[in-house]
Amino acid sequence: MCKDAVVFENKPKGVTLDAWIPYYICSCGRSEGGVFCDGSHEGTSCLPKKVIVEKTKQYHICMCKTSKNFPFCDGTHSIYTDEDIKKNIKP
Ligand code: FES
Repeated sequence: MCKDAVVFENKPKGVTLDAWIPYYICSCGRSEGGVFCDGSHEGTSCLPKKVIVEKTKQYHICMCKTSKNFPFCDGTHSIYTDEDIKKNIKP
């Protein structure tokens, strides 16, 4: 988890990832769309999370940016309300 991250959304997003392709998942919550890194983390302490999956299928990508199993949702998003969106993550 990156201390400079903001909550992009308070629920996960289903995204199809192809097997054996490296993806760079946004960990700062500032990218366009909130899923893939677009360089918006520049100037923060956040770095994208590289992930390579073994199976092509839909994955639940963490959009609150605080999952302990980042970049995959682990249910931590339940601590965030709609008012927390675009605000700093809770420590
Ligand atoms: S969106 Fe579910 S833990 Fe982040």
